Amino acid sequence: MINQLAKNKIFLETYGCQMNEYDSELIKTILTKENYCLVENESDADVVMLNTCSVRENANNKVYGRIHNIRHERREQNLAPPLIGILGCMATNFRKALLENPNLAIDFIAGPDSYKRLPQLIREAGHKGSKSFDVTLSEFETYSDVYPVRPKGVNAWLAVMRGCNNFCTFCVVPYTRGRERSRSVENVVEEVRRLADEGFKQVTLLGQNVNSYRHEESDFATLLEEVSKVKGIERIRFTSPHPKDFPDRLLELVAQNPKVCKHIHLPLQAGNNRVLDMMNRTYTQEEYLALVDNIRTLIPNAALSTDIIVGFPTETDSEFEDTVKIMNAVQFDSAFIFKYSVRPGTAAEKKFPDDVADEKKTERIMKLNDIQKDHSLRRNQAQVGETLEILVEEERTTRSLEDFQGRTDTNKLVIFPAGPYHRGNFVEVKITAATPHILKGKVLE
Ligand code: SAH
Ligand code: SF4
Ligand code: F3S
Repeated sequence: MINQLAKNKIFLETYGCQMNEYDSELIKTILTKENYCLVENESDADVVMLNTCSVRENANNKVYGRIHNIRHERREQNLAPPLIGILGCMATNFRKALLENPNLAIDFIAGPDSYKRLPQLIREAGHKGSKSFDVTLSEFETYSDVYPVRPKGVNAWLAVMRGCNNFCTFCVVPYTRGRERSRSVENVVEEVRRLADEGFKQVTLLGQNVNSYRHEESDFATLLEEVSKVKGIERIRFTSPHPKDFPDRLLELVAQNPKVCKHIHLPLQAGNNRVLDMMNRTYTQEEYLALVDNIRTLIPNAALSTDIIVGFPTETDSEFEDTVKIMNAVQFDSAFIFKYSVRPGTAAEKKFPDDVADEKKTERIMKLNDIQKDHSLRRNQAQVGETLEILVEEERTTRSLEDFQGRTDTNKLVIFPAGPYHRGNFVEVKITAATPHILKGKVLE
């Protein structure tokens, strides 16, 4: 029996990384089992939940802005305010600020390991009219017993490990998501089988340090190999790995297993050894470059992408030039470049001054973005004239209903004219043109 007075209609909005997207799918399963229903429109909801990101300050600010916005719109329409809940990474790190700020008036808070308690937290917030929260971090919770509600499509996300033990000095993730823990190989493989039965063609294995996966005697290479045996799943991707966990056995598997995509995300963060050491990244520029060489020897056609932070505390102009040097040496296929943003509670916040001026950070990010654009274009142009196997992902593009889009196994987006094939099909596409962001081509009949 559904309680008529209960607050049943939920609106859930997701910020941040793919792990948060996946978690939102878990949350939907947990809530629908308890008779909550999800609504598409925020203004129809009794309960509005934001699954938040805290990785940089502007991620936080977006959420604060959104909360004000929701309250304002309800007041304008003379409607009762919804219960507002904050989930995800901000929940853990900003619990005090969120609960004590009267302007925000948050009703409940749940951290990334507390989603099974959400039905209870929502009930408590609704009945008592008081705040409820649970941000306890667990050493064990992997949600391995919850099968997430996923939108139909080609790709399914699947978290195989959660948490981070690395404590890079700039990063809030170890504080918001706690320690590393992995699901068993059997449990992951079983979920992948269900995905194949539902028609998914690709699975993307997720973890804050996905290649640090370890369950009893099994490491990440073993997991990848077992997942690749599942019939019906044609492509396997994984993100985000850490450079410290790429043994040859893993690279050889990526090279030899036709289902494992030839794309490796290899977060560099900085090119200078003093800065890398201050960041606690555990590798030097020489070790990073040696790993890139090894990857390119073992997997010659691999695409490489990266994450870079500019303006880490005390980074000088000449130290920044080391990042430029590494970018030029590697020539990444794509890169996400960020300005350093102080995160409360991290070692960098406590130990180092945020002393690189914002204008300087802007100058550096613009320079790296220009370099990357040039490299992306060159790497993409090298594909013109080639015939590549594309997995069709959309039977339209954001710009045109006449075109389809899909990806190469190196994760490049390819646009080609619509034809008699469907989402989830593989087509052979001859590449005819390239920009820094996309390839264009024609399907070979
Ligand atoms: N565990 C993943 C994801 C970390 S967050 C990984 O190691 O790749 C994703 C990216 O955000 C990081 O790689 C880093 O480049 C960036 N980032 C993290 N903390 C940051 C901060 N305080 N300021 C700016 N960028 C940051
Ligand atoms: Fe952050 Fe480092 Fe962990 Fe990545 S590996 S989440 S950058 S602490
Ligand atoms: Fe953001 Fe948390 Fe992911 S801080 S990047 S949502 S792990």
